[in-house]
Amino acid sequence: MVDAILGLQWGDEGKGKIVDYFAPRYDIIARFQGGPNAGHTLYVNGDKIVLHQIPSGVFHENTSNLIGNGVVLDPVTLLKECATVARFGVDVKKNLFISHRAHLILPTHRALDKASELSKGHDKIGSTLKGISPAYMDKTGRNGLRVGDLLDKSFITSYIRLRLKHQKLLDNYGFTEDIAAWEEEFFEALEFLKQLNIVNGEYYINSQISEGKTVLAEGAQGSMLDIDFGTFPFVTSSNTTTAGVCSGLGVAPQKIREVIGVTKAYCTRVGGGPFPTELTNETGEELRKLGNEFGATTGRPRRCGWIDLVALKFACMVNGVTKMVMTKADVLDSFTELQACTGYKIDDIVVDAVPFQMTRVNIDPQYTSMPGWNTNTTEKKSPNELPGKMVQYVNFINEYVGVPVKYISNGPGRDQIVTV
Ligand code: GDP
Ligand code: IMO
Ligand code: MG
Repeated sequence: MVDAILGLQWGDEGKGKIVDYFAPRYDIIARFQGGPNAGHTLYVNGDKIVLHQIPSGVFHENTSNLIGNGVVLDPVTLLKECATVARFGVDVKKNLFISHRAHLILPTHRALDKASELSKGHDKIGSTLKGISPAYMDKTGRNGLRVGDLLDKSFITSYIRLRLKHQKLLDNYGFTEDIAAWEEEFFEALEFLKQLNIVNGEYYINSQISEGKTVLAEGAQGSMLDIDFGTFPFVTSSNTTTAGVCSGLGVAPQKIREVIGVTKAYCTRVGGGPFPTELTNETGEELRKLGNEFGATTGRPRRCGWIDLVALKFACMVNGVTKMVMTKADVLDSFTELQACTGYKIDDIVVDAVPFQMTRVNIDPQYTSMPGWNTNTTEKKSPNELPGKMVQYVNFINEYVGVPVKYISNGPGRDQIVTV
């Protein structure tokens, strides 16, 4: 039995906190896609930790954590992260498992990401520069190197061959940065990686499921960054949606039970690309300030806006979301009026569907206004303590989207969550 936790917007919905909250109920937490472009923030005994590669269940002694085949793995980031979690007493040799089919991010992938972004100028995607797109290109282009390849003596020959290919591409871009230092850390990190639990992920997870163990699949990024269903080309390079759970872990669709979608009470996006409800005014600034909206991976300021119910309903549809978690509800505590986008006006026609090419049409978001609760909610523990106007806001969303919000997160802390 597998449940999934996925982002329903453009990433940074608070998945890390929510996975950490649910983790004690599961035996295995498994990342199925993405790589170090992810930045999942958790608070462990008051200390803030941002995880990029390791699943967010790692701080629970009785959970195992799997980096699935659908993930692209940067050994350097992993090494650093293992050192961070070790300081909190986590023994990764005991509770971290890595699929031998996960593809490696090479130093030249990072260089190619940078070169590609530079060549795009104003039209750049705004990637995290972690080498994600080149690594997935080598996967689908059938050139990539996988974690399991490390254990083969032909690895170094394959590495040199691929590196030469990358060098030609870099020369084409006119990229001249010296990456010798990156390569040095890469090879050091590979030695560390070899000592970890490299497993046959698909057999590992299916045998655990057969024994009655429970799995929580942890999504990275968000549905609107999905390579197929997101705001292409301003997306990431993997399937961030539920289908990615099957291909990224090797589990069959009928094994998936709950799909828990995480949405902020408003909306953010980092990097380029369409964002219909973006507020470039004082209200947007207020949301960024109150929500501390700065990227967990890159530190970039996040673009902020009102909740987009058209996009949220679309995300629930493609994912088959069974229940939602609304995070950062407390960020709206001081607002006297709230807006929710319930339609897109395109060429004078209001639609409630996400258009094929969001970048080519001019979307005028249509809003429904609601009163804000204007009350501090960060200490609330039970649903009957929540202000009526917050309940009204949530009910409006439930009704529009057709999927219920079952949890409201009212602060970054581990215990700041109300089950409704
Ligand atoms: P993720 O990538 O989806 O895991 O989200 P990030 O960690 O990138 O960003 C979410 C940010 O919001 C982090 O700084 C969290 O600590 C914080 N956060 C999560 N839930 C809440 C909440 O309910 N209220 C507030 N104020 N902050 C939250
Ligand atoms: P988490 O898991 C928010 C965005 C980048 C860029 C686009 C492509 O923390 O929610 P990439 O490096 O993947 O090629 O960048 O996707 N992006 C994210 N935005 N949260 C993330 O992850 C993201 N991972 C990638 O900003 O616009
Ligand atoms: Mg994040």
